[in-house]
Amino acid sequence: MKPLIVANWKMNTTLSEAMILATGVKEGLANQTGAEVVLCPPFMWLVPINEILTSHRLPHLAVGAQNIFRAEVGAQTGEIAASMLKGVADYVIIGHSERRKSFHESDAEVAVKARLALDAALRPIVCVGELRKPSAEYFADPTDLPASQAQAILAQVDAVVAGLSAEQAVKIIIAYEPVWAISTNKDAVPANGHYANHICGLIRHRLKKKVGGAADSMRILYGGSANPENAAEFLHQPEIGGLLVGGASLKVKSFLSVCGAI
Ligand code: PGA
Repeated sequence: MKPLIVANWKMNTTLSEAMILATGVKEGLANQTGAEVVLCPPFMWLVPINEILTSHRLPHLAVGAQNIFRAEVGAQTGEIAASMLKGVADYVIIGHSERRKSFHESDAEVAVKARLALDAALRPIVCVGELRKPSAEYFADPTDLPASQAQAILAQVDAVVAGLSAEQAVKIIIAYEPVWAISTNKDAVPANGHYANHICGLIRHRLKKKVGGAADSMRILYGGSANPENAAEFLHQPEIGGLLVGGASLKVKSFLSVCGAI
């Protein structure tokens, strides 16, 4: 399976910057087909970017949203429902740590959003991750990592699949994003390949309880300061099926090098 590389533009780009970025990525990917790529611009630019991508569509380039509201269409001023994204996005990021923090999104809310996304035929990319960096010894060799370090992550995984059927759960993409590694956080450092691989393995093991052997083909992404220098280290790990990229997705050149790091 090709790796999935997801660009999370967050609250960045003007319309013209977004068009230039999407056009540049599309041009670069025309002869770079080793990864499946998803661009997640701010809501405002979903429609114009979709237009750029639909003329001479590349089969390995799709569009995703960064969020949806926790209920279906109705009286929710300023919000966007999953069903409104039909025909505009194929993927949606759910439960990013910035939303969990700034908008107090709980595990229960994240689970509801994942279900609404699936009901609307969107592929949810559900973010999970711990707040605290492990101590240096486990970071270097995670084999004996205490169960408590992974507990919060696995609880987030359990919460999102709890209300889903196995058939639905298998469609979820988990993005393991240790919060301490996200580039915009103070003192952020990327995880290393071994550590991220270990945690992604624990997540897959947990998913097996819900979906059985089908978990082997589920994609688990790593995110947190992924960039052209470290992308290959993550992508070569057996449990890591792709990357969720923030800062390095905002420049055509750096994002294309991440996509090419396979
Ligand atoms: P970063 O962001 O690559 O800039 O660390 C990743 C994310 O928050 O999804």
